[in-house]
Amino acid sequence: MHPSAFLSLKFHHSFSLFLIVYIAHICQAWLPDTSTKFNSANKISSISFTGNSSNNDDHFIILYQDQETLLLGGRNRIYNLSIFDFTERKKSEIFWPSLEAHGQLCILKGKSEEECQNYIRVMFNTSPGKLLVCGTNSFKPLCRNYVYKNGNYLVEKESEGIGVCPYDPEHNSTAIYTNGHLFTATVADFSGGDPLIYREPLRTELSDLKHLNAPNFVSSVTYGDYIYFFFRETAVEFMNCGKVIYSRVARVCKHDKGGPHQSRSKWTSFSKARLNCSVPGEYPFYFDEIQATSTIIEGIYNEKTSKIIYGALTTPDNAIGGSAICAFQMNDIQEVFKGPFKHQESINANWLPIPDNKIPDPRPGECVRDSRILPDANVNFIKTHPLMEKAVPSYHGRPILIRVSLNYRFTAIAVDPQVRTVNGKTLPYDVIYIGTDDGKILKVVNLATEQSSKAFVISDNEVFPKGTAVKQITLAVGYGRVVAVSKGEIKLVTINHCKFMATCSECIELRDPHCAWDQLRNLCVSVDAVTSFRYLVQDVARGDNSKCKVSTNEKEPKKEIDDTITSNSIDEEPSSSVKELSLQIENRHSEPDDCSNDINADVRTGCNQIRKNEFTTGTLWWGIIVAAMIGMFVGFVGGYCVSRKFYMQYPNTPFIEQRNHLDRLNVNQNSFLARPKNVNLDVLNVSSDPLPPKKDNLGSLKNLNITNEGIKRLTNVGSQLEDI
Ligand SMILES: *[C@@H]1O[C@H](CO)[C@@H](O)[C@H](O)[C@H]1NC(C)=O
Ligand SMILES: *[C@@H]1O[C@H](CO)[C@@H](O)[C@H](O)[C@H]1NC(C)=O
Ligand SMILES: *[C@@H]1O[C@H](CO)[C@@H](O)[C@H](O)[C@H]1NC(C)=O
Ligand SMILES: *[C@@H]1O[C@H](CO)[C@@H](O)[C@H](O)[C@H]1NC(C)=O
Repeated sequence: MHPSAFLSLKFHHSFSLFLIVYIAHICQAWLPDTSTKFNSANKISSISFTGNSSNNDDHFIILYQDQETLLLGGRNRIYNLSIFDFTERKKSEIFWPSLEAHGQLCILKGKSEEECQNYIRVMFNTSPGKLLVCGTNSFKPLCRNYVYKNGNYLVEKESEGIGVCPYDPEHNSTAIYTNGHLFTATVADFSGGDPLIYREPLRTELSDLKHLNAPNFVSSVTYGDYIYFFFRETAVEFMNCGKVIYSRVARVCKHDKGGPHQSRSKWTSFSKARLNCSVPGEYPFYFDEIQATSTIIEGIYNEKTSKIIYGALTTPDNAIGGSAICAFQMNDIQEVFKGPFKHQESINANWLPIPDNKIPDPRPGECVRDSRILPDANVNFIKTHPLMEKAVPSYHGRPILIRVSLNYRFTAIAVDPQVRTVNGKTLPYDVIYIGTDDGKILKVVNLATEQSSKAFVISDNEVFPKGTAVKQITLAVGYGRVVAVSKGEIKLVTINHCKFMATCSECIELRDPHCAWDQLRNLCVSVDAVTSFRYLVQDVARGDNSKCKVSTNEKEPKKEIDDTITSNSIDEEPSSSVKELSLQIENRHSEPDDCSNDINADVRTGCNQIRKNEFTTGTLWWGIIVAAMIGMFVGFVGGYCVSRKFYMQYPNTPFIEQRNHLDRLNVNQNSFLARPKNVNLDVLNVSSDPLPPKKDNLGSLKNLNITNEGIKRLTNVGSQLEDI
């Protein structure tokens, strides 16, 4: 064989090997950890409300909700709807359009007819019978205090809404009312260039990129003495290396009174930290853009009671579509705010933690009795160091759910907390509803334990037409009932599939804590509709249908079960594997043992399915190997042709070439082997550079404390080994 051909064969061989390892590595990180059991094509029932205007420009937002009523902010109106059937209570509706003059001025300033309306964004019940309402008012935010008298809402007072309500109905703002104070995070100017966190008269620094840098606010919660704001913004600590967006949690003290002297109208307690929602590894893969959070949920996780908040985070818009759900413990968030601050010595220097001895006393950024008498050093410190050094880790150190999809990203989240199981022994589960920008709602159950952080996707439901983003989800009364909001429509949907499950196996394999198999009636029932749990079976943790055979009543012919499962998996495959790269590996993880003790028919049925799933994964692996072989072959032929051509063009030179190769072979056997390896690494680097993970990893590398690097590396490798 021609030596250079041999070289190229060798080269391509080890290259493909590398490629396989590399792809395997990526796959490992990207494996969506769930498969969908149930795809409710047209099976969910819903009630829709589209408001008064005919076109889809209401910019709906749920302002308030209780057991009976839903108050919906929209174009020039607050609608009062019944939570049960969306009937409109026209009598207690508030109609508040912009003044003609304001509308005209808005149009003169170059905004559209649609924008120049009064979109109600903020509403709070300040005391019984009194409402504080704020609207965009044709890009001139305005607030009103209403009082309820004789069946009507009367305007008590009108005031400017700057810093309270956004100008643009599409701006991502948040507001929370507590202890008689309104805390808001929005923008305070027409062009949207002055973001702020505000509580009269205190605000964050004006045009200080360390405080807020083009933020998109997502939510706000009150917890202890502080208000916490969740948002994403351009990362100031990364600006020397390019533009990257990070997710943040910021907090202010509820009873901050402002600083002394010139800082009278500035927070003395504003600080913020990065949220770390990532797949661990030597180079962690980050989901850096928070889109939504749940409320704070108190529950039992890992046999301990803790308070957590779920977040939906995504990769950047221009990257491969990846979405994740991460849970953050309130304790971990507080811990980060007690830790070191980040500091940048000069404009081009790295951001490093500030040494403890340079932090003034009392500790900046905390609640104090009267912030107006704080020393200047303290106030200045927090003004110049609002960013914490450490990132808030996610619970379990990784997302509970990852979805890779070309079709959608997560946009909204709501949680039905701690749904109890029918057998009192197993702990309750959180049922999570996730909205996507493609009009879907996924119903998911959080199964995370100490050993594995997994969520299981129960169903995938089309709620709005394709391309319509779900902007907000709230819970209504009844298992599976949720209110979903899009820009121009709100829907009351019932994402409860119990009654569509015909057999015990189907019912149990759905793994929905809302459903259980009633052995007496041979029905899959919604657990909130039954009075006694006595004859109910359910297995949320494992979806193990062998529990069905306990029932003597069940007379399912075995064949039928097989059929159902087969057709299920076939139905499933086109949508999950083709459309979204969903690899169905979950079952293999959760029930590996059942296959080996192949004792009875019921268990075997389960195994059939497991094998089928394995086969799907296997096919993919074969695909990769075949692709690699083809790559190898093409590379070989290509290399051979090039070398032939080279030989034809310069018939004399190959001698030297050949001798060189031979020399190298003779002089050092190892160098020949080592050489292609180096080349491969280069190739890998080049080929993976445009991928977003790399970009991000640069950031994480940069953030690494140099002294810690070795240790971090080691732990990363450790956690990767655990993965395998
Ligand atoms: C919307 O409300 C306005 C004012 O109340 C009314 O004049 C108009 O007829 C309504 N339009 C529809 C489609 O209901
Ligand atoms: C909404 O309508 C219900 C039923 O008419 C009423 O009880 C409730 O007070 C109304 N809510 C508001 C905020 O107007
Ligand atoms: C608000 O957030 C949504 C969803 O992430 C995004 O598409 C939109 O551009 C944001 N709005 C603004 C004004 O940035
Ligand atoms: C985020 O968490 C991952 C996994 O727990 C860890 O490897 C990584 O170093 C963390 N990143 C930051 C910036 O703290």
